[in-house]
Amino acid sequence: MSTFNRSKSVNQRSLGVGTPRSASFGSPRVKLNSVSRWFRWLVVIGAFLPFSIAIAGGYFYLLPSLTQAFQGFGNSNDSTKECNLFDGNWVFDDSYPLYNASECPFAEQGFNCLGNGRRDEDYLRWRWKPKSCDIPRFNVHDILEGLRNKRVVFVGDSMSRTQWESLICLLMTGVEDKNSVYEVNNHNITKRIRFLGVRFNSFNFTVEFFRSVFLVQHVWMPRHVPRRVRSTLKLDKLDDISNRWVNSDILIFNSGHWWVPGKLFETGCYFQVANTVKLGMSIPVAFRMALDTWASWVEKMIDTNRTRVFFRTYEPSHWSDQSNRLCNETDRPMSETGGKDRSLFSDTIMEVVKNLTVPVTVLNVTAMSAFRSDAHVGKWNGNPSIPDCSHWCLPGVPDMWNEIILSYLLSQS
Ligand SMILES: *[C@@H]1O[C@H](CO)[C@@H](O)[C@H](O)[C@H]1NC(C)=O
Ligand SMILES: *[C@@H]1O[C@H](CO)[C@@H](O)[C@H](O)[C@H]1NC(C)=O
Ligand SMILES: *[C@@H]1O[C@H](CO)[C@@H](O)[C@H](O)[C@H]1NC(C)=O
Ligand SMILES: *[C@@H]1O[C@H](CO)[C@@H](O)[C@H](O)[C@H]1NC(C)=O
Ligand SMILES: *[C@@H]1O[C@H](CO)[C@@H](O)[C@H](O)[C@H]1NC(C)=O
Ligand SMILES: *[C@@H]1O[C@H](CO)[C@@H](O)[C@H](O)[C@H]1NC(C)=O
Ligand SMILES: *[C@@H]1O[C@H](CO)[C@@H](O)[C@H](O)[C@H]1NC(C)=O
Ligand SMILES: *[C@@H]1O[C@H](CO)[C@@H](O)[C@H](O)[C@H]1NC(C)=O
Repeated sequence: MSTFNRSKSVNQRSLGVGTPRSASFGSPRVKLNSVSRWFRWLVVIGAFLPFSIAIAGGYFYLLPSLTQAFQGFGNSNDSTKECNLFDGNWVFDDSYPLYNASECPFAEQGFNCLGNGRRDEDYLRWRWKPKSCDIPRFNVHDILEGLRNKRVVFVGDSMSRTQWESLICLLMTGVEDKNSVYEVNNHNITKRIRFLGVRFNSFNFTVEFFRSVFLVQHVWMPRHVPRRVRSTLKLDKLDDISNRWVNSDILIFNSGHWWVPGKLFETGCYFQVANTVKLGMSIPVAFRMALDTWASWVEKMIDTNRTRVFFRTYEPSHWSDQSNRLCNETDRPMSETGGKDRSLFSDTIMEVVKNLTVPVTVLNVTAMSAFRSDAHVGKWNGNPSIPDCSHWCLPGVPDMWNEIILSYLLSQS
């Protein structure tokens, strides 16, 4: 225990270091019959634990420690710390994909490229390989057990929705009774819906998605403003549904694709700080201010002893022209990122998170995703006349983002 606590305080620093158009794993209350399961789980996690804790800790002390193992606390001296998970390359691997989107009721039609007629299948078989380590193989049963009694929450734009769908499809491969997995309000997936929550009933956990494309409050028509202002983003107020993101065990954010003139100024949306509309404020400055608001919110509202917080960086698109009408679909990943490995949004996220006083893990997916010009839904989105080189096919790249999140949780203790 003491070792554990020490590693906690050492870890109060953060580890580390972006529309498209259109854990504690385990509850403290452990029943006797689940002890053997706990021990299996312990073996997985135990590999990372100093042996002395196991001996000295004793059974009753160990359980709470393990409970915390899959939970919030900063980041320990583990493989994910020594290894930069985001510096690597894609390797061909026949054991992928991990699921079939046509058999997953939570993969929306628009992302099911095979189901929409894509013929080449190589794009399904690339695994991300960090230079100096491996991402642990996805073991659905361990993960399902680890998520028991937990709440996983995705917040952001449609890229978050894709990742939410991906995680559900990954996890459903380990669930025998598919009917035990359902959307809590019986809602179908739609683009504008604010909340979707899928419950894994046999495991008593939910995987939730909150649509909040800017993370801050978007309000209509403030009074006494120039006519062109139809709505504003209140950069100093986090989204009004943010109270529902608290009390989660794993919380994953993204934002970026909506911070473009076409989604803002061209629709009459301008920035607002307190009671003042800032007509001349640039997008990068506003994005920074919104993230600062997010950062203060995390520091104030999130108990990072319980909640493991992630922020995913910008997910590059692969349009072949400025007007976002034409896709440059390839059948293999590119060998170079072609400059798409950097993004102002990603840099801002890194800067803001570095300055946080609580641990938040940045998922620096920009570069790894930049190679994958082969993996967008392109013309296989169910509507070939409007190609889409922003969103990703499922199965595909978002699965890897999830595998990386799961590897953090596994290696945490
Ligand atoms: C982290 O682990 C490595 C080897 O596993 C060790 O050399 C290093 O001293 C450890 N660092 C800390 C801060 O404990
Ligand atoms: C994000 O990852 C890429 C690829 O490894 C790297 O070039 C970049 O420096 C990283 N950004 C940060 C801030 O770590
Ligand atoms: C995916 O599932 C569908 C429906 O069961 C099936 O028709 C299709 O062959 C499967 N695709 C692959 C690649 O296994
Ligand atoms: C289900 O999980 C919640 C926490 O999310 C917990 O309060 C509740 O006791 C759990 N129910 C069962 C039957 O384990
Ligand atoms: C969800 O979609 C199914 C199939 O398209 C449809 O039958 C059902 O009515 C829809 N449910 C809701 C709540 O819209
Ligand atoms: C988190 O845990 C640490 C160490 O156990 C404790 O000092 C701190 O007060 C806790 N923070 C919260 C918000 O509970
Ligand atoms: C499309 O992708 C190919 C292969 O990566 C590249 O050589 C070409 O320059 C790209 N075309 C455009 C218009 O981006
Ligand atoms: C970091 O946070 C401190 C204290 O909140 C603030 O004064 C400083 O300007 C921040 N630095 C950056 C680079 O944001």
